[in-house]
Amino acid sequence: MKILFATPELAPWVKTGGLGEVAGSLPAALRALGLDVRVLVPAYPALLQNFPDAEEIAQPRGLGGLLPAPVLRQALAPDGTPLLLLDYPHYFNRPGSPYLGPEGRDWLDNHLRFGLLSRVAAWLGSEASTLAWQPDIVHCNDWQTGLAASYLHYLPGQRAKSLFTLHNLAFQGLFDHASLFELGLPDKAWRIEGVEYYGYLSFLKAGLQHADAINTVSQTYANEIQTDAEGMGMAGLLRHRAERLSGILNGIDTRIWNPAADHHLYRSYSARRLDGKDTNKAELQAQLGLAQREDLPLLGVVSRLTEQKGMDLLLEAAPQLLKLPAQLAVLGTGSHALEVAWAALARKHRGQCAVTLGFDEALAHRIEAGADIFVMPSRFEPCGLNQLYSLRYGTPPVVRATGGLADTVIDAADEKHGNGFVFGPATAEALLQALQRATKAWHDPGRWRKLQKQGMARDSSWAAAARQYVELYQRL
Ligand code: ADP
Ligand code: GLC
Repeated sequence: MKILFATPELAPWVKTGGLGEVAGSLPAALRALGLDVRVLVPAYPALLQNFPDAEEIAQPRGLGGLLPAPVLRQALAPDGTPLLLLDYPHYFNRPGSPYLGPEGRDWLDNHLRFGLLSRVAAWLGSEASTLAWQPDIVHCNDWQTGLAASYLHYLPGQRAKSLFTLHNLAFQGLFDHASLFELGLPDKAWRIEGVEYYGYLSFLKAGLQHADAINTVSQTYANEIQTDAEGMGMAGLLRHRAERLSGILNGIDTRIWNPAADHHLYRSYSARRLDGKDTNKAELQAQLGLAQREDLPLLGVVSRLTEQKGMDLLLEAAPQLLKLPAQLAVLGTGSHALEVAWAALARKHRGQCAVTLGFDEALAHRIEAGADIFVMPSRFEPCGLNQLYSLRYGTPPVVRATGGLADTVIDAADEKHGNGFVFGPATAEALLQALQRATKAWHDPGRWRKLQKQGMARDSSWAAAARQYVELYQRL
């Protein structure tokens, strides 16, 4: 089976969150099962720098008269996955985030940039493609590639089937009506059964509407988004397509997220030899300017600083949390207001609360390893990867019962299977109660070891998910 995996992000080169991680690891897991998977991604500067020899394999034509025509280049990722780099410098040769300009606002031509990505994905799955390699399935990911399903839908002749994977319903890719023509979509696409969404064109809706199948990244999230309360305006459409909608829980890249062989750590450790974790804690405290206290639980956070992630709830609970007492290490970037508020909290509690504003891969690994407890109080969470990392790193997570968090974290009240702490209401009080339970358990070393080991024993590799994707492809 030949699969084109279309994505706007690809770890380790271009990543703003979980989608980049998934794109960087799921294709190799599928290839290990014998599928011929190739990844289509924009040729951002980081990719061109890493693959300077990527050779030209096609010039897709007839895509709205772009001059000069975009170029597809092929490269081979270190794990053996072929990459198709969509080289169109005018759209993609921009530094920094794949979505935001220097002022932190969306690029004004994002509809054209990701419209082109979608269009080339569809071109590769159509008779128009000049490549010998023809995918059976175009696997789209999030709004940035949602339009590929629509282009395929409106194409005449033979075409690949499409799968749309929803990593986050909150980002809907909304643009005004005029973009319909700029993107070369037919007039008939402008209706409720098409890409129109309350007077806007929605890339996300396009994917949900036209894909031959839809999946999201956990079963609980697949259920939640069909309710009006959590469907973000798409619940009706998702219910309508319920027979085509499934949930497949993400895996993680266990080669990169492995405490026994993680070059970012100060010392490696494993479930059998957990003592190396203490060294990581002490060094992390030193690196972040926290008091080197073994007797205080250190709570860690690696997160976008947004309301989705409940970072406002944790901010509200933080003064009480610090009084328990406990230490807090936060790494993240996000909304300006939350960044300012978190920085102020850290200034007020120097030595006890450290906040690093920025995107720092090494520090993310060190927090996963050096913290005693990981905190993830998300309001909604399609899957979430950080709780999976923290389970593997022997850092029991405190999470809200939502989406993928509910599907992966088992509350410590279940002595035999518990691996973390789960709370219900999205309030600072409920979060604080869970944090109190966690810190209390931490003070009981025997109990804590058991919890850590139960978490570390969880198999979060891609194996199970990859098999489910193969089944889904086969059904298509
Ligand atoms: P989301 O994609 O919604 O942000 P996930 O939990 O699926 O949430 O994935 C987030 C990914 O991004 C993880 O790999 C996490 O380690 C990483 N990450 C988030 N913020 C930062 C940061 N400030 N520095 C380094 N890595 C980060
Ligand atoms: C999104 C979601 C996150 C998920 C990730 C990868 O960014 O917010 O929960 O883990 O995609 O699927």
